[in-house]
Amino acid sequence: MLTKEQLIEQINILRKQKNAVIMAHYYQRAELQDIADFVGDSLALARQAAKTDADIIVLCGVHFMGETAKIICPNKKVLIPDPNAGCSLADSCQAKDLALFKEQHPDYMVVSYVNTSAAVKALTDVVVTSSNALKIINQLPPEQKILFAPDKNLGNYINSVTGRNMYLWDGACHVHSRFSIEALLQLKKEYPNAKVLAHPECKKIILDIADVVGSTEALLNYVKNSDENMFIVATESGILHKMQSFCPQKTFITVPPEATEIEVNGKLTPCSCNECEYMRLNTLEKLYECLRDEKYEIKVEHYLARQAIKPIERMLQMS
Ligand code: 13P
Ligand code: SF4
Repeated sequence: MLTKEQLIEQINILRKQKNAVIMAHYYQRAELQDIADFVGDSLALARQAAKTDADIIVLCGVHFMGETAKIICPNKKVLIPDPNAGCSLADSCQAKDLALFKEQHPDYMVVSYVNTSAAVKALTDVVVTSSNALKIINQLPPEQKILFAPDKNLGNYINSVTGRNMYLWDGACHVHSRFSIEALLQLKKEYPNAKVLAHPECKKIILDIADVVGSTEALLNYVKNSDENMFIVATESGILHKMQSFCPQKTFITVPPEATEIEVNGKLTPCSCNECEYMRLNTLEKLYECLRDEKYEIKVEHYLARQAIKPIERMLQMS
C-alpha cells in the first residue's frame, strides 16, 4: 500500500502524463480539495468543465457532477473515483415520474436543480444550481407555471424570496434535512454573536433563523469578506476545510444532525456527523487508481446528452 506522500507523487505524475484536470467539490475530503486543480460549487465545476482543455476530467464529487461535466464535454473522458458516489436528492426524482408529471401538466415549465440525473435533465427546460436559482427564476415570466424539482426545501426558499408559487417536487437531501433545530437553538444561545450560515437545501425551520442562506461558494465568500469572527454552519462539514484555510483566525461550529442512525440504501447506518457519505466515498487512493486505470468513466447516451445539454446551456447563459 502506498503512503499518502507516494499517492500524491503518483497522482502528480499521472495527471501530467495524461493531461488530466482534477476538480473537487467543497464537500470532498480535505486531501482531495488540496490536490485538486480546481475546487468549487456545482455551478463553478460546470463552468470550469466548459472551459478546460484537458483530455481527462476527474470529478471528485458525486455522480451527477460527473454526468454534468460529461454532458458539457461529450468528447472528453470524464472519470469519478468511486462509482457509488450517488446523491439522495438526485435519487428522489426519477425520470419516469417526471415524464408522467409532464404528460399530466403540459402547461408547466420544468426547472430542475443540478442535483439530478442526465435523464431528468433531458426532461427539463432550465437547470439551476443553488448559486444561480434565484437569478434564473426571477428571469422567467411571472405568469409561467413552474414545476421545481427535486428539492422542496430549495424550492420553498425560492418561493419565499421571489413571491412565486412554484409547484414543488417532494424531494430532499438527507444530509441537509437532518440538522437538528434544537441543537442549533442551543448553539445560538451559547454563542449569541455567531452568525448562522445555511445552505438552502436545509429545512425551512433552519433557514428561518439563518443570517445567511447560500450555496457553498456564497457561504465561503461571506465568511471571507465578513468582519465577524464566529460562524455556526448548517451544511456539509467539508466546506469547513476551505473556510478554515482562508480564515484561520475565525471559529466555525457545525450543527449536529437530529439522529444518530440514518438509512442508506435501505440499511440503518451509524451517523454522528453532518458528512455526506456519498461525497466521502472518494479518497486519495481511489483518485490515484482512477487516474492510473482511467476508471470509472461516466457515460451518457448520445440522445440523452443532446437533450440534457439544452437546459444546462440555458442555465449557463442565464447565470
Ligand atoms: P452547491 O451547488 O452549493 O455546491 O451544492 C451542491 C450540493 O450537493 C449540496 O448538497
Ligand atoms: Fe446529494 Fe445531499 Fe450529498 Fe449534496 S449533500 S451530494 S445533495 S446527498
